[in-house]
Amino acid sequence: MTQGFTLWLTGLSGAGKTSIAVAVEHELLARGVRVERLDGDTVRQGLSRDLGFSKADRDKNIERVTFVARLLSRNGVAVIAAFISPYRAARDAARRETTGFIEVHVSASVAVCAARDTKGLYAKALAGEIADFTGVNDPYEAPLAPELTLHTGEETLAQSVATVLAYLEDRGLIPAAQPAASEDSL
Ligand SMILES: Nc1ncnc2c1ncn2[C@@H]1O[C@H](COP(=O)(O)OP(=O)(O)OP(=O)(O)O)[C@@H](O)[C@H]1O
Ligand SMILES: [Mg+2]
Repeated sequence: MTQGFTLWLTGLSGAGKTSIAVAVEHELLARGVRVERLDGDTVRQGLSRDLGFSKADRDKNIERVTFVARLLSRNGVAVIAAFISPYRAARDAARRETTGFIEVHVSASVAVCAARDTKGLYAKALAGEIADFTGVNDPYEAPLAPELTLHTGEETLAQSVATVLAYLEDRGLIPAAQPAASEDSL
């Protein structure tokens, strides 16, 4: 059984958490790693559908996710968690309670994220139509000592994913990619 870990992606909406999480999950599955991906959007449709975006509700959301990540990671599963998770204390609790916690700051400026506006939410938030929108009218506490920082405004998705995979490989948490079959071996 491979060693479980919790790859925790934090950052503003539109910074690239889901894109990176999906690509890393895909690659881990291809390498035979048991993986579970937890994403803010799906968790808020299910486990946390009763919660809003006040600080108390955000804390409760991350507390629940941490609980799930703890159960999985201690049983050898590679957990990929993609949550804005704006509060440092809540992320620090996840660090304490899960196995092999790796904090990844998916970093992009509000300007970059607003220009992407993948969900059309920045336009609304900047027009004052959404209260409690992280980075616009709600706080984001950047990690102070993350294991990795990905500057997604300045690198491609493939580059960000490669950085994460290299980090996991270097620590022996995932097997190296199988080399592509060469003409000779066919
Ligand atoms: N290096 C990069 N890493 C990740 N995404 C990138 C990168 N460069 C550009 N992008 C683009 O940025 C967008 C990020 O959107 P994504 O939905 O992944 O953000 P998110 O952090 O999950 O946001 P939310 O919190 O709203 O779910 C995508 O359109 C993606 O293709
Ligand atoms: Mg997302």
